[in-house]
Amino acid sequence: MTSSFSPPEQLSTPRLSLRRPRAADAPDIFREYASDPEVTKTLLWSTHRSVADTHEFLAYAADAWTARREFTWSIRLGDDPLVVGMIGAIFAPPMVTLGYVLARRLWGQGIMSEAAAVVIDAMFECDDVHRVWAYCALSNPGSARVMQKAGMRYEGVLRSYARLSTGDVVDVEAYARVRRDLSG
Ligand SMILES: CC(C)(COP(=O)(O)OP(=O)(O)OC[C@H]1O[C@@H](n2cnc3c(N)ncnc32)[C@H](O)[C@@H]1OP(=O)(O)O)[C@@H](O)C(=O)NCCC(=O)NCCS
Repeated sequence: MTSSFSPPEQLSTPRLSLRRPRAADAPDIFREYASDPEVTKTLLWSTHRSVADTHEFLAYAADAWTARREFTWSIRLGDDPLVVGMIGAIFAPPMVTLGYVLARRLWGQGIMSEAAAVVIDAMFECDDVHRVWAYCALSNPGSARVMQKAGMRYEGVLRSYARLSTGDVVDVEAYARVRRDLSG
């Protein structure tokens, strides 16, 4: 099952359309969030300096999807073609690790919680996925709230776990949803 699993290339929620990224998404991604240091300061990857950096990332994401190592979706608002965010799932059964990012002007409207919930459901369609988790710096309560609202449960703090794009090595808090939670 695991060896052949791929999640849907398109997912939707009442407000959002998620689809597998395309090279043509690069200008939107660069302009909407990847070039914004306020957005990337809580992430593991550095602010993109030019759209070439974004193209490089998209080439990586395309290969990773094909290899079924990591599945990534571009996030759009309904039918609007503009890409405003991204959510990725590193696929390493029995575990999946989520990461996500959204244009700053759209923060606080429940968008990422909605996207994370549908991606978590899609990943549990793989019988061999037993744990979907994510983590964030303690200084990023908005991300912690996304995990809670998407149905993940707080697990604890991992000390000195991540080096952010700022260079700081930080403690993170971990949240997970596990298969045995699904019936509850
Ligand atoms: C983290 C991020 C994806 C959240 O996206 P979003 O669409 O704004 O998230 P949501 O609106 O679904 O949920 C955010 C929640 O956090 C809350 N929140 C935001 N900032 C907060 C803060 N400083 N303290 C406490 N709560 C906060 C919001 O009020 C909201 O909760 P509510 O709906 O109960 O009011 C977005 O802020 C982002 O892209 N940040 C930069 C990249 C990043 O940090 N990614 C995650 C790396 S671990």
